[in-house]
Amino acid sequence: MRVPAPDGQSELDPGIWPRTAERDAASGSLVIGGCDIRQLLTDFGSPLFVLDEADFRSRARQFRKGFGAGADSSTSDSPNVYYAAKAFLSVTVARWAFAEGLGIDVSTGGELACAVRAGVPGSHLIMHGSNRSVDETRAAIAADVGVIVIDSFEDIAKVAFCANEVGRVQPVLIRVTVGVEAHTHEFIATAHEDQKFGFSIAAGDALEAARRVVDVPDLRLLGFHSHIGSQIFVPDGFELAARRVVAFMALVRDELGVTTTHLDLGGGIGIKYLPADQPLALPEFARQVRGWVVEDCEHHDLPSPELMFEPGRAVIGPSMVTAYTVGTVKPVELDGGEIRTYVSVDGGMSDNIRPALYDAEYTVTLASRVSEAEAMLCRVVGKHCESGDIVIKDCWLPSDLAVGDVLAVAATGAYCRAMASNYNLVPRPGVVAVSEGRAQVVLRRETVEDLLALDAGLDEPSPSGGREGFARNGPEGNDSQGVTE
Ligand SMILES: Cc1ncc(COP(=O)(O)O)c(C=O)c1O
Repeated sequence: MRVPAPDGQSELDPGIWPRTAERDAASGSLVIGGCDIRQLLTDFGSPLFVLDEADFRSRARQFRKGFGAGADSSTSDSPNVYYAAKAFLSVTVARWAFAEGLGIDVSTGGELACAVRAGVPGSHLIMHGSNRSVDETRAAIAADVGVIVIDSFEDIAKVAFCANEVGRVQPVLIRVTVGVEAHTHEFIATAHEDQKFGFSIAAGDALEAARRVVDVPDLRLLGFHSHIGSQIFVPDGFELAARRVVAFMALVRDELGVTTTHLDLGGGIGIKYLPADQPLALPEFARQVRGWVVEDCEHHDLPSPELMFEPGRAVIGPSMVTAYTVGTVKPVELDGGEIRTYVSVDGGMSDNIRPALYDAEYTVTLASRVSEAEAMLCRVVGKHCESGDIVIKDCWLPSDLAVGDVLAVAATGAYCRAMASNYNLVPRPGVVAVSEGRAQVVLRRETVEDLLALDAGLDEPSPSGGREGFARNGPEGNDSQGVTE
């Protein structure tokens, strides 16, 4: 059991909370981007994702400066850093990323459409997708995406076919697996041999893929892509990956007579969720990466490639928090007599599946006030019909915690709203951006009406005769679950 110390519950660790997060001097309420969390819930409903614009932009800038053009010998007009849309994407966020000089890495037709509708030019887009459809591939080529990342032999034929249709020579990267065991959860490690992504260098598939791509006149092989996993704190895996891909570029030159020019090292940089987490320090890490690549390129007598990166979590993760309202506070006696208090909030696994999926851990604070009360051992749980619906397994909260208090969970920007579901027909929370005292809806909150609008059964006569469907302002009325519009 990993239990944080009960002291300093109301303190906001600046490595975990958004950069503008502070406590209101009078009320003790959490304030982000100059906006009081209690007011945000009153205005936009609970639960709510609160996104700190200044935090997001400053992290994006940090990546551009550390890893991007100007930081190295880059001569390209295209960006070197592509924000990984899968972590979280909306039109507003795509625009912020682009304005800060980042491109966007998209994996599906939906992410592509969002980035394109946001006005991000194709030259600033990378298209991934381990089973991208023909339609998604066509859409990417129609959007003039700068790079498509090839992930399978079928994909070579697919991209070539779609490029040929429009008479375009499509620049591509080939995704390779470098055989690295990233030190992270099994489900977010992606460069060992036994998984679905990319072509194995060790098994010879990557060289065969390069041979086939080079033989297709509709494709131009720019280079190679490696993404070893996510939430990584140690540089070793990145180093091994960078060095193995450079060695592979030398092999491709020697075997196929092709000198490739681009090396994309994907994303994966970890963030601080808990006080003990120690993320990589950004400018130093960027320098290290360039050092490994330059050194090995010199060794293999290769020109240094254009380096590309695709951070997702490290850009958006710490920028967002989830605010929930407490609905029940239930003490449960454990074997041995210890009391654990189950604190139920008005969201849960439908807005944050990561604890259930990866045993992910988070930091929580009482956000509507500060309390001097003694700390009690708590488990923060959601409102869903699953005992695994846990937001935070073990934490300390003030013993005077009461129904109606607001809890804020930090660092929920990445893979929370993006992975949200409608389990139990619960509408997904909205996302509100805050900056300098202003709040702007980035994604509006879903309503039950949104969900029922998909239900074709409502077009049929109901057994009771009418077609009334779901009465607006139905059973829960105008409450905080988004029943009303
Ligand atoms: C190909 C690729 N690039 C980038 C990322 C972003 O990773 P992270 O959010 O850990 O930076 C992922 C995440 O799964 C990925 O699969």
